[in-house]
Formats: sequence, C-alpha cells, structure tokens
Amino acid sequence: MSNNDEEMVVTPWTVSGKIDYSRLIEEFGTQPLTEALLERIRKHTGELHLQLRRGIFFSHRDLDWILDMYEAGKRFVLYTGRGPSGPVHIGHLVPWIFTKHLQDVFGAKLYFQMTDDEKFLINPEFALETATGFAYENALDVIAVGFDPNKTSIIVDTEDAEVLYKLAVTIAKRITFSTLKATFGLNDSSNIGITFFPAIQATPCFLESVLTGENVPCLIPAAIDQDPYWRVTRDVAQKLGYFKPAQIHCKFMPGLGMGGKMSASLPETAIFTTDSPEVAEKKIWNAFTGGKPTIKEQKISGGDPSVCPIYYYDYYLFEEDDVKLAEIARQCRCGELLCGEHKKILATKVKKFLVEHQKKREKAKDVLNDFLFKNHK
Ligand code: TYM
Repeated sequence: MSNNDEEMVVTPWTVSGKIDYSRLIEEFGTQPLTEALLERIRKHTGELHLQLRRGIFFSHRDLDWILDMYEAGKRFVLYTGRGPSGPVHIGHLVPWIFTKHLQDVFGAKLYFQMTDDEKFLINPEFALETATGFAYENALDVIAVGFDPNKTSIIVDTEDAEVLYKLAVTIAKRITFSTLKATFGLNDSSNIGITFFPAIQATPCFLESVLTGENVPCLIPAAIDQDPYWRVTRDVAQKLGYFKPAQIHCKFMPGLGMGGKMSASLPETAIFTTDSPEVAEKKIWNAFTGGKPTIKEQKISGGDPSVCPIYYYDYYLFEEDDVKLAEIARQCRCGELLCGEHKKILATKVKKFLVEHQKKREKAKDVLNDFLFKNHK
C-alpha cells in the first residue's frame, strides 16, 4: 500500500506518495487545462467528455497549438501505449477511453505502442517472451475499448523493430546520458538497454511523418507519469525537423486501498479486466472507504468521498451522470449512504462492465491481426 506521507515520486516506473497535481504542473513545466481551452474543445466535441468535465484530464502541452492546426485544416495523429507487464487494470482504461473519444471526434489516426522491451528491461525477473505475450493479450483490451480498425495501428516494439530502430537511433544520438539520468533517475548501475529505451518510446511521435513524408502533428493522451518521455522527445523534435509532440495528461485512478494509484503490483487493490465478476466484487468488498468506523458514527457525521476509492470509481468511470454523482457525494457526506450499500451498488456496475468488456475482448481475437502495425506495411 502506498503511504500518503511519503514524498511524492512520479516517474514512468514509480508513482508513490500523495500526488499533488498542481505541483506536478509546475515541476514538469506543463500547462493547466483552463476553462478557455475546455470551451474551445467543446466547440469541436459538443458536450465535454466526462474526463474533461471532471478534471481527470487536467494538464497539457501545446493542446492549443493542436487545435490551431486542426482549425486551419491540418490533421494530427494520436499516440498512446501500454507497457505489457501483466493483465490490464481498469485504471489503464481511463486514458484509452479518452483517446477513443478523441479518435471519434477528430477522426484521427492512432498509433498504440506496446513496450514489451521496456517491461523486459526494467523488471529484473521478467522474460522477454512473457512481455511480448502480454503485448498481444493486452492488445485485446485495447481493441475492446472500441478503436476504429481502419485508423489504429498497434505497434509491438520487439516485432516492429525494423521500422522503429532507424528512427530511434537518430533520436538517441541527440539525447545525452546526463539528461537521461536527470529526467528518469537512472544511474550508473542501470542497464544500457533502459538508457536507450526512451528513444524507442519517442519514435511513434514522428512515425506518421516518417512514413508519409508530411510533417504531421502528434497528440499524446496518457497519465502524467509518462511525461518524462515527452520532455526528452520534445527537446530533440525540432533538431530532427519534426513538430514537438503535444500532450494531454490525466490523473491516476486510485487503487482500492488507502491512497495510491491503481497499480498491478498491488493486485488485491486493482481490478483487472480479466478478473471474474466474483473476484472483482470481493476486492470491492474489501476496499478502504471514506466511511466512519461504525454505522452509528457514519449516520451522525457522514463519510468523506474525497478520500474514498469507491466514490472515485464512480467519478472516473462508473457514474456518467453528473447529477447522480453529486447526489452520491451528498448522500455519503450526510450519512444517508453507508459504505456497505455504496460498495454493493458499485460492485453491480463493475460486474456488468466486466462481463461486457470480456465479451468484447473475446471478439477482439478475431480482428487482432487487422490492428497490428506489422500487417499494415
Ligand atoms: P503503462 O502500461 O504503465 O500504462 C498504460 C497507460 O495507463 C496510464 N496509467 C493510468 N491511468 C490512470 N490511472 C492509473 N492508475 C494509471 N496507471 C497507468 C499510463 O499513464 C499509460 O498512459 N511506457 C508506457 C507505455 C507507452 C505509452 C506510450 C504510454 C509507450 N508509449 C505513449 C502512453 C503514451 C507504460 O509502461 O504504460
């Protein structure tokens, strides 16, 4: 369980401590998603997506520029990804659901990268075949989210190296070891594979430009832990003659424990898309809540949704209706909704979601080949 008193650490490989998102905006040098920018997005999308309305996507770089380009008739591509170290959890789905929304409204092509190499290099005990196997397993979850097969290319790093490598070396040549150490916290005992890897994660930002010969802007929706990759990529983009990739960053969906993001390394507090409905229900049942120690106390002084994962699950994914969500928070605060009841209501929604997602995941097996980058060449 993550300790909220620990110092905040946010890197692609470690997220711990109590996350202060305003401080991250400052430290990472990103921009907040302002009302004015949201209003501009609304012009293109109609009603704002839940994740924008609720501030789940909260920060960006150059999103205003992407909109300038789009409004001037220039297309852009989307890019996001997954480090396939195990089954997908529902926190991973947060940026993917939003990416699908962007694909739908802007008609954008998506590059989705599976970094089996990254997971192999960063986990001492991990076999490469295991990571590559999970890349294909996790691709089923990506497809189940509903991306357009005609506009989506799933890259598996070790299988698409032929295309990635040439571009990666041109990027790698322009990144120094001292930049990497400062940006990623690498040190002299880090293996040399992981020091090269950021060049591989940078490549899809420029792939469309390389493949088409036209300089195409790229927008990356992801949680903010991936930001160090984009900082180094942005530094080299112009030297290579490409646009700097733009980003839109989301917060972390919490785990079911007390504080901390949902993380596969804490399986009892993460709901995996492959969990049976019964297993998911049990995890929800064992979750920490913002409730009081006794029902009597809770009825008198109410619960605290602001620290409650059960409430946050509704907030991030499971209650789309803002009016209903506000009512849940009100009932919780005034002690009308007890934790047991709320868990039961959430479990019903999560189980329904899992049954549907797992059906789509099964169907995805028939179309997996249509999504793979290696089959698009
Ligand atoms: P990975 O596998 O750690 O995470 C996949 C995506 O999920 C986001 N994420 C979360 N979002 C909300 N709540 C959470 N609790 C949560 N945990 C993780 C991550 O930010 C990410 O967007 N190196 C990457 C793979 C990658 C990639 C990319 C990701 C390659 N290219 C481009 C984003 C964009 C990785 O290991 O992601």
